[in-house]
Formats: sequence, C-alpha cells, structure tokens
Amino acid sequence: MSKRATSVKPPTPASKTTAKTYRIAVIPGDGTGPEVIREGRKVLDAAAAEEDFRLAWHPYDLGGERYVKTKETLPDSVLKELRQVDAIYLGAIGHPDVAPGILERGILLRLRFELDQYINLRPVTLYPGVWTPLRDKKPEDIDFIVVRENTEGLYAGAGGFSHKGTPEEVAVQSSINTRHGVERCVRFAFELTRERNRRKKLTFCGKTNVLTFAHDLWQRVFDEVGKDYPDVHTEYTHVDACCMWMVKNPEWFDVIVTDNMFGDIITDLGAMIQGGMGIAAGGNINPKGVSMFEPIGGSAPKYTGQNAINPLAAICAGRMMLEHLGQRRAAQRIEQAVKQTTRQLKSLAAGKMGYSTSEVGDVVVKHVQASA
Ligand code: IPM
Ligand code: MN
Repeated sequence: MSKRATSVKPPTPASKTTAKTYRIAVIPGDGTGPEVIREGRKVLDAAAAEEDFRLAWHPYDLGGERYVKTKETLPDSVLKELRQVDAIYLGAIGHPDVAPGILERGILLRLRFELDQYINLRPVTLYPGVWTPLRDKKPEDIDFIVVRENTEGLYAGAGGFSHKGTPEEVAVQSSINTRHGVERCVRFAFELTRERNRRKKLTFCGKTNVLTFAHDLWQRVFDEVGKDYPDVHTEYTHVDACCMWMVKNPEWFDVIVTDNMFGDIITDLGAMIQGGMGIAAGGNINPKGVSMFEPIGGSAPKYTGQNAINPLAAICAGRMMLEHLGQRRAAQRIEQAVKQTTRQLKSLAAGKMGYSTSEVGDVVVKHVQASA
C-alpha cells in the first residue's frame, strides 16, 4: 500500500489542485503492444501517486488493425491532437497482414518526422540478474547510451525507381545529411555526455572510409562542436568495428552518437547484450516539442494475447518518459524497482520468465510503492 494512503493527514485541497497533471497520448498499437503498455501505465500511475502528480491518458487506436479496417495510417486530425500533448507512449507498430513499410512509414516514421523528434535515445544497460550472452560481463561493464539521429539519413525517403520491373531497373535511396540536422544531434550527444558525468567519453560511430561525403560532414561537425566541450573525451570508430567492440569490450563505451541507419542496427545488437528485446527501451526526443517513448522490440505477433511477453522494456520506456517530463524522483523509483525485479526473475525471455506479463507489472508496482 502506498505511503500516502496510510498517512493520517488527509491531502489538503490545495495539494489536490496543485498536483501537476500531464497529458499523455497512448498508442498501444499492434500485437503485444497493448499488453505491455497496460503494465507500463500501471507502473507509471503507481509512481505518479507516490510522487504526487497525475498522468491523464488519452488513448489512440493507431496501428495495423485500424489500417486493415479503414486504410488509414495517421490521419491529419490525429496528428494535430498529438501536437498538443506532453508526451506520447507507444507500444508497437507492425501487423502480419500489412505489407512492410506501410505502417512503419505511415505511422512510426511519420510521427518521428512530423514531430521533429530528431534524437532516438537508446540506453544499453545490463540490469542485475539479467543474463547476457557476453561471457564474464557484468552490469558495470554494460552501461552506455546510443544517440541515434532520428529524422535524416537513409530514412529520409529520398530516392526512387526508374524502369521499375524491367531488366534495366534502377533503385536509388539517398542518405540525407544536413549540417543543421547533424549538428543538433551531435550537440545533444555532447550535452548528454557531460550530464551523465560517467566516463565523459563520446564516440562517433560512422564509416568515414567509405561514406566520404556524408560522414565527412559528420566528422567535421563532430570536431567543431567538440571544441565547445573540452571536458568531453572524443573518439571515433567505424561502425563495423563498433559492433565488434560492443561485443568484446562494451565497457569502453559511455555515449555513442551515430546516424539513423547505423543507430538502428547497433541498437538491436545493444538490446541483445543487455538481455534482449524484453528490456530494451527508447525515446524519440524533440527537446522543445512532443517526444515519444517506446519499447524497441516490435509487435511480437507470435506472443500476442498470451500474457507471456516481458513488459520491462515498456516500463523502462515509461521511466524515460517521466524523466523527460522532469519527474526525476518518480523515474528513479521505477529504475530501482526494475533492478529489484530483474534480480528476482530468472529469465526475461517471453514465456520463460516464470511470471506472466501482468505479474511482472505487479512486482514492479510493489517495488515502486515500497521504495523511498
Ligand atoms: C526501430 C525500428 C524502426 C526503425 C522500424 C520499425 C521502422 O526498427 O525503431 O528501431 O527502423 O527505426
Ligand atoms: Mn530497429
């Protein structure tokens, strides 16, 4: 039971009216999205109650089911409403009956682009008790964060076909890298490295030996911006070597900054070394606008409706959301509660946790309420 509930002093009307309320759009989405979001909301509401603020949830039914019925992905009217909220909490987008690209481009990427969420922030943290495929690596060895550029690069959608369907067919897909886009991402990464205050090391992950235009721009911007952060140690690694080091020496990393495509790829590797998709969370950040938080694992159609999937990734995404909203104490509570929960669980793999999805949520809630 929460401390407030057992308090002898009833809350004063003043504290009731001053309790801050956040408007959160919630998009449970497809597959197991709704199951994990349900647990995330439960945990976030518990943390909010403990710390005296409120979350007003506004659900939206965007996703594959809606598309199959109506052929609508993200209507302009919905996008207009989403521009007004304090944050968005997203489950998963992806449906087995819908061709690849339609929902991804039409919903997920459109939200990222339209809301100018130019950072995709993905922590790679090995929690206590969690199994990692990396032998001999411990939580203190796997604790870094990837800053992925989130609105440009190969994801920009620049390109096209000519002579489609003929033997002469040509397909071009260009990587767009603007100085403005690269600079704001790199600057965010330097600021974050300073704020984290761990090893104060920022690694630019690129491919300067092949992408001699795109990553030449990145490297120059990285060096220029770095001059404003003399306290931050900088480093460069090619993306292929980066994958190697993430497996062999993950303890070398503190913050990694990279472009959209490489960031997509290395954060799946990151998810695996931190115990799998069941625990990997991310935030699509617009520091001055509406940000969106999501587990990075997808809709997992195979496990839909079984109450078997791990909700910790969604819970950790919710933790990132509260931190972003400035509710640091509530975020800290959840972080501690997740650590206590992972110590208790034998496995994070779907169906093999020894707990159902909702039981894991209950365990986290219990720890959230018990922590000081
Ligand atoms: C991710 C996903 C998306 C991406 C897909 C679903 C478009 O893989 O969030 O990493 O590539 O960004
Ligand atoms: Mn991905």
